[in-house]
Amino acid sequence: MTAYRLANLLYEGKAKRVHATDQPDLVAVEFKDDATAFNALKKAQLAGKGSLNCRISALVFEVLAQAGIPTHYRGLGQGDHAECWMLARPVRVIPVEVVVRNVAAGSLCKQLPLEPGTPLDPPLLDFYYKDDAYGDPLLTDARLERLGLVTASQRQELEVLALRVNAVLRELFHSVGLRLVDFKIELGLTADGQLVVADEVSPDTCRLWDEAEADVQARILDKDRFRQDLGGVVEAYGEVLKRLQGVCAQPQVYG
Ligand code: TMP
Ligand code: ASP
Repeated sequence: MTAYRLANLLYEGKAKRVHATDQPDLVAVEFKDDATAFNALKKAQLAGKGSLNCRISALVFEVLAQAGIPTHYRGLGQGDHAECWMLARPVRVIPVEVVVRNVAAGSLCKQLPLEPGTPLDPPLLDFYYKDDAYGDPLLTDARLERLGLVTASQRQELEVLALRVNAVLRELFHSVGLRLVDFKIELGLTADGQLVVADEVSPDTCRLWDEAEADVQARILDKDRFRQDLGGVVEAYGEVLKRLQGVCAQPQVYG
C-alpha cells in the first residue's frame, strides 16, 4: 500500500518516466536503468542505475531544501516504490538546461582552448536549449530572449539559483572527498508560479572526481565512465551514494 495511487503516464524521457497520481499536486517520477549519451547515439541498460540516481537525487534535494533552495522533491516512494520512485510537485519544466562549471571538462574543452582540469573561478554558467531535435545548443542571451523561454527577471533568478545550488553542492560533495567539476540542472514552475529545481541531481547530471585519486580516469565517478567506455559505471554511482549516506540523514519517505 502506498499513500498515493499511480495514474496515467505524463511524460517519458531518456532516463525517467513521470506519472500522474490520484493527487493533483503530486507526480511520481520513476528512474529507469537506461543510460544514454551523445544525444542518445550511445545507449545501454545499466542494472541498478535508476535506483542509485533516485536515492542520490533524494539526498541532494534534501540538502538543497535545508539550504533554503526550493525543489520539486517531496520524498521517496514507499513499499514497492522504495528504490526507483520519487514523489514530486508537478511543474512546467523550462526547456533550458542550466550548466555550472567549476573546472573545465567535457564540451567546454572541445569548444574552447581550455585544458581539462583548468579551475574556473568564478564558475562559468551556460544555458542550453533543451531539445534533442536541435542537439541541445548553447544559448546566448539574445537567443534566450528571442525564443521567449524566460523573462529577463526569470533569467536572473535562474542564474542566482544555479549559483546557490553550486555553492551548496560543492560543499556537500567536497565533504565526502568529491570534486564537483560541473553539473546541469533543470528548473520548473509550479502551479503557483514558484521557480524550483526539478528533474534530478545525480552522477548522470554532474561530473564528480574523487579528490584522493590522481589518475585522470580512475578519479571519474560519474556518467563520463559510460561516455568514455571506462566501465564500472554502476560501481562509481554506488560509491557516490555510499559517501553521501555517510553525511546525510536517511531520505524521507513520502506520505
Ligand atoms: P557538457 O560538458 O557535455 O556540456 O556537460 C556539462 C554538464 O552537464 C555535465 O555535468 C553533464 C551534464 N549534462 C547533462 O546532464 N545532460 C546532458 O544532456 C549534457 C550534454 C550534459
Ligand atoms: N543526456 C544526453 C543523452 O542522453 C547527453 C549526455 O548526458 O551526454 O544523450
